[in-house]
Amino acid sequence: MSAYEVLMQPLKVGPLTAKNRIEAAPTLLCVAHADQSASRDIVEFYRVQAKGGAGIITVMETAIDSDRAITQPTQLNLGSDFYIPALTSVAEVIKAEGALASIQLNHGGRQAVSELNGGRNPIGPSAMRGVFTEDRRRGEQTVEEMTHEMIEEVIEHFAAAAFRAKTAGFDMVMIHAGHGWLISQFVSPVVNLRTDEYGGSLENRCRFGLRVVEAIRERCGPDFPIEWRISASDLVPGGLEIEDAIQYAKIMQDKVDLFQVSAGMIGVPETYPYTHPSTYLPHGENVERAAQIKKAIRTPVGVVGAILDLDEAGEWVAAGKADFVALCRALLADPALPKKTFRGRKEDVRPCVRCNSCLTRGAHSLPVRCAVNPVAVREDYYRWLPPVAPVKKKVVVVGGGPAGMEAALVAASRGHEVVLFEKEDRLGGNLWAASGPDFKADWKRYLQYMLRQIEKSTVKVRLGTEATRELVRAEAPQEIIVAVGAEPVPLDLPGLDLPHVVTASHVLRGGTVAGQRVVVAGDGGMGLEAALALARQGKVVEVVTLPGGSAGDQTVNFVDVVVLEDLLEEKGVAPRRDLMLAAVRQGAVVVRGVDVSTPEEELSADAVVVAANLRPRSEVAAQFADLVDEVRIIGDCKAPRILFNAIHEGFEAAIEL
Ligand SMILES: Cc1cc2nc3c(=O)[nH]c(=O)nc-3n(C[C@H](O)[C@H](O)[C@H](O)COP(=O)(O)O)c2cc1C
Ligand code: SF4
Repeated sequence: MSAYEVLMQPLKVGPLTAKNRIEAAPTLLCVAHADQSASRDIVEFYRVQAKGGAGIITVMETAIDSDRAITQPTQLNLGSDFYIPALTSVAEVIKAEGALASIQLNHGGRQAVSELNGGRNPIGPSAMRGVFTEDRRRGEQTVEEMTHEMIEEVIEHFAAAAFRAKTAGFDMVMIHAGHGWLISQFVSPVVNLRTDEYGGSLENRCRFGLRVVEAIRERCGPDFPIEWRISASDLVPGGLEIEDAIQYAKIMQDKVDLFQVSAGMIGVPETYPYTHPSTYLPHGENVERAAQIKKAIRTPVGVVGAILDLDEAGEWVAAGKADFVALCRALLADPALPKKTFRGRKEDVRPCVRCNSCLTRGAHSLPVRCAVNPVAVREDYYRWLPPVAPVKKKVVVVGGGPAGMEAALVAASRGHEVVLFEKEDRLGGNLWAASGPDFKADWKRYLQYMLRQIEKSTVKVRLGTEATRELVRAEAPQEIIVAVGAEPVPLDLPGLDLPHVVTASHVLRGGTVAGQRVVVAGDGGMGLEAALALARQGKVVEVVTLPGGSAGDQTVNFVDVVVLEDLLEEKGVAPRRDLMLAAVRQGAVVVRGVDVSTPEEELSADAVVVAANLRPRSEVAAQFADLVDEVRIIGDCKAPRILFNAIHEGFEAAIEL
């Protein structure tokens, strides 16, 4: 029996039964209409997600009112009956696939946005001023302490919103009592400074949440399950910790039907890459927290956070650490993950690399997109595209990195005859460097997935073949897509040609580095990843900056740099952003202050790793310009950027053929 099979067992959800133990976690897509009603994009997203096989589909964070609850401009709202009809379509498409339809209700509290709530100040358990919103560009806000009247009003709004969800056809609701939103603000000792019956002791701090549940029960009846999502740790000093979270769960256990264990506080950005566990963190970030809570209570407990593999998840459930698992990003990357796994096609699951491109877009209120699944949140648009291109063409793709592989795969899947040239003796390009270190295992899974898909496809691959004009012309293509990538910008510094100087790419691809003391020049993502890889090999590493910037965007999102630097700190590496490489000598580097007036100094170095900025290989791309009407240039050879751009441009280029 495969480990995932335990997840195929039904789950009791109060009086209802979910067909399996997989929940699609709420995912704010930022594509509601401007009036916060559900759009066709939302309906089609959930139709596809439900078809993918999860037992419970939880529709994204939905504001319970328009007074002060709203946190994002294009989130959903259930603050009035106006919103019911459009949400009815969402519930319908979910239930049509046999999943339980749930919707998450939320009040932003101090993390709500004044501008989106009629200019009214946000409210919270206690008055304060600061930057607490998800989109931090919005700046400081004044938070008003909730009066008893306001408390009664918000409780009523939760109950009314839940009843509207029920009226729209939802089977259940998830109440957001985590991530630093209003209910968790009451529970958190670091935010709730009240001295009345809603503050002080844990029991008092739980009172607001308890009253919300009781009001929903009273309004919606006992047959309408309530799931309670909590942060079992605020992940901030002085915040809620697991010991109190266990007591909190005990207080709530007979009031709700499911618990879900997450962690973190949106208002504190350093917790962000732990709430949405960065690619550098292990899978199952909250499993041990969930296990501790599950041990203490009777109510079924679910866990969310870096659950990407159903065999792994099945083992946790079989070991009694959780009753069910909730997946967000893994289902954005491939909504059919449950179905494919349950049908023995796990190798075809498109893995999420946890690059957090989706998250950073969402945090800026931009429609969420997935780096590896260009169709995500555009299901409605692509639904109308004929699966096979109307005219079958001969297509040459030059360059077998991520952009080229995606273009080749999509073109071939649409019926075109595709030849893919790659000058190296293996496909993958920069993905080899991006997935080299052991802490990039999710990227390796993605690389392997892409290689497997190419193998299964009709794409004719020419490895070890640098595409020349003649070779390409000989194929007589009707279309050419060029994805030849980028190369390091040459640096004019003395000593870079010495034998102990290597590139960050060399290190990330598993190349060795001489000696014990290493200086990494370049503090972007590639430099930091190389530094971490070397530090984990036991090398003594120093990181300095490079003139002209350094390679970084290719692999790391700004959210995850927080984690990368935390991990480097654990290894005693603190990037010296005040120092810049000036020259390399035998056994040493010369650095100078970023402020040019500071004197030069020497750092001893057995090896030097250079993570220079990248520039597009434009000349290589240009040689094919006149071979067909329009050569499509995609990925890093257009401009060096992140995986997201490579995959999306590969996809779009192939769709346009
Ligand atoms: C794009 C995006 C949108 C999200 N929207 C919500 C949301 O609406 N409500 C919520 O409670 N959590 C939201 N989350 C958090 C996820 O539900 C989940 O807790 C987190 O991503 C960790 O799970 P994962 O590793 O499976 O992605 C969102 C996460 C992402 C990446
Ligand atoms: S954008 Fe990145 S993190 Fe988000 S779902 Fe896609 S692959 Fe995963």
